[in-house]
Amino acid sequence: MLLLNTEDARAAAQRRLPRIFFDYIDGAASTEATARANEADFARWRLEQRVMTGAPKPNLATTFLGETHGLPFMLGPVGFLGLYRGNGEVQAARAAAAAGVPFCLSSFSIASINRVAREAPGRNMFQLYVLTDRALGAEMLAAARQAGVETIFLTVDCAITGIRERDVRNGFRSLTSLTPSLLARLARKPGWCLDMLRHGKPRVEALATHPEFGNSVLAQAAALSSRIDQSLSWDDLAWVRENWPGKLVVKGLLCADDARRAADAGVSAIVISNHGGRQLDGASSTIDRLPEIAAAAHGLELLIDSGFRRGADIVKALALGASGVLLGRAYAYALAANGGTGVNQIISALKAEIEIALALMGCPDIPTLRADGARYVRPA
Ligand code: FNR
Repeated sequence: MLLLNTEDARAAAQRRLPRIFFDYIDGAASTEATARANEADFARWRLEQRVMTGAPKPNLATTFLGETHGLPFMLGPVGFLGLYRGNGEVQAARAAAAAGVPFCLSSFSIASINRVAREAPGRNMFQLYVLTDRALGAEMLAAARQAGVETIFLTVDCAITGIRERDVRNGFRSLTSLTPSLLARLARKPGWCLDMLRHGKPRVEALATHPEFGNSVLAQAAALSSRIDQSLSWDDLAWVRENWPGKLVVKGLLCADDARRAADAGVSAIVISNHGGRQLDGASSTIDRLPEIAAAAHGLELLIDSGFRRGADIVKALALGASGVLLGRAYAYALAANGGTGVNQIISALKAEIEIALALMGCPDIPTLRADGARYVRPA
């Protein structure tokens, strides 16, 4: 299957997935205006073409989160990858490891962090929500540590879930309404693998032993959802700190004041994110807010996601102050379309686009792009 770009992957995912899952990946909150802005606002910036610079073939090695990676992007946390492809989390993590970039496992996953670490050794990270059930949160962190995870992403923009109208129409609603008969109907669709039913293994092993959860992954997902702490505050970072000695990245900030607050709290990095437009519809695109956050947050490492589909999008964010980009839908579509091979294809396509963009701008490497961003990217 030829996947030249994210649009190919999206179209192939749409052909292959049951609508209820395609819409869950593709959809966003309310009017989906923020999701559209995330993609459209990259056009507010232009790359600077330079010729006869004698620059060598660009080097894409990039340092973020304290380590040097092969490429300036990573695979961010996307829930339920194992629903779109059998063993989807492991397949995505393997593709990331092969490309020399990190993979962050969502806490809403079919495969456990332990299984991902075992079957896809690499730079695996873990994403967590603050839960009202602190003991359960601590167990999840302990499982991540045991699996060798050094960096967690604490997602803070999802204490209350945005209204995703496609999911409501399709009856998705946090998976609680996926009744056994609907699941049976979906499972009969050719080529579609309901990994969790086949293997029946819960994704967070700590949950399996919890008396309230039963043995259904769907019930577990609903139970985990209902335990997300809706009154999350900055004070809760202290709890995370007590339970997590490693690197802590706070994901889901969109405002300079919040970034300053995060810097004061001493976090390792933040992810500028609006959750791919799935939360506050009407919020700014992330690329729109990156320059002011970069100006405000001295010394704080900035990662960014939401709407990244092309190599040029990534180049723009790096020139505007980000140290790395998280992919979301871009690789989820590819995984759904063509498994781990699809993820490899999208990673390679983005890599080629970044390499060619840098070459045509006369930029030798990512540190130069980042240090001298205004030379390479200009307002449209
Ligand atoms: C997400 N995202 C997400 N984030 C998170 O911290 N934990 C999660 O479980 C999920 N789950 C999830 C599922 C799906 C289907 C999508 C599309 C997204 C948000 C994700 O990490 C990232 O912020 C966005 O996907 C970025 O936007 P783009 O690149 O998808 O437009």
